[in-house]
Amino acid sequence: MKTIFSGIQPSGTLTIGNYLGAIQQFVQLQEEHDCYFCIVDEHAITVPQDRLKLRQNIRSLAAIYLASGINPDSSTLFIQSEVSAHTQLGWMLQSISYMGELERMTQFKDKSEGKEAVSSALFTYPSLMASDILLYNTDIVPVGEDQKQHLELTRNLAQRFNNRFNDIFTVPEVKIPKVGARIMSLQEPTKKMSKSDTNEKGFISMLDEPKKIEKKIKSAVTDSDGIVKFDKENKPGVSNLLTIESSCTGKSIEALEAKYEGKGYGDFKQGVANAVIDVLQPIQEKYYALLDSEELDTILDHGAEKAALTANKNLAKAKKAMGLGRVK
Ligand code: TYM
Repeated sequence: MKTIFSGIQPSGTLTIGNYLGAIQQFVQLQEEHDCYFCIVDEHAITVPQDRLKLRQNIRSLAAIYLASGINPDSSTLFIQSEVSAHTQLGWMLQSISYMGELERMTQFKDKSEGKEAVSSALFTYPSLMASDILLYNTDIVPVGEDQKQHLELTRNLAQRFNNRFNDIFTVPEVKIPKVGARIMSLQEPTKKMSKSDTNEKGFISMLDEPKKIEKKIKSAVTDSDGIVKFDKENKPGVSNLLTIESSCTGKSIEALEAKYEGKGYGDFKQGVANAVIDVLQPIQEKYYALLDSEELDTILDHGAEKAALTANKNLAKAKKAMGLGRVK
């Protein structure tokens, strides 16, 4: 049994990209492995957040995890800020992170571009992410493609710490899904689908109603060929929709190309919309039942307690290795 860790930011309603790139893998992995799934609220505050909205988003994300099939009996679901070891080790890892390597992070470049005030926490974000992962002796980190660079840095930091101080941290492997690792915007299919997109038509939220999903997919940008064929370079819009249907149904891209042979984009888009609705509708029903339940709080309480047991043990080892505090 391996240890799995992954996190999602509570920075708005998740998109179908978050689901297909991340949560769907989490659900598949959890029965065979020891899994930790985190609501990374301390990462969310690296950009300005409204206090009340953040609280809502944290709760909403917990309900989304559970409604999507995360089983709290086999997985540990918790909120990052409720386990203080994360920021403690995060600080320690900042002390061995180099400015140059943090400056190279594309997520930092994208999020800071054109902004006047950029927080220093946005810059050191990857050291906190490394802390999340390394506190649990994590073997595997399932994420979408956009997190690959952060994972590479996490591996470097683990190796650097182990070489410089003591061999404490497991060097984790990244796991990226074969299909669905990078779901693109419906309006600009060469750009990643993102929950912070200002154009609401560019993404499908996991809580969009079926009619809205249908509407957004019907207005997705395609091309004038009229042929349903996977070709990322020349047909990014059609390829993205094929990827979405394939990840939602488990059918191969080839099988879907055959399904739509001789059919127009109207039929194709209807098929994609149906596949997305079939996945999201049952999740939405469970979500609304869970959102205000006491059960949700109990699960998060237990999750934080369980996570802290492991995290505190590893934090103590790391502090000792670095020479922090006193010998006890
Ligand atoms: P976040 O919150 O941006 O995204 C959560 C997960 O969703 C994946 N994802 C996508 N996958 C496919 N297509 C897309 N369009 C798409 N958009 C997002 C992301 O790759 C991610 O797996 N830094 C992380 C959060 C984090 C974390 C961690 C992850 C903090 N600590 C430790 C793993 C381990 C982030 O911002 O993800």
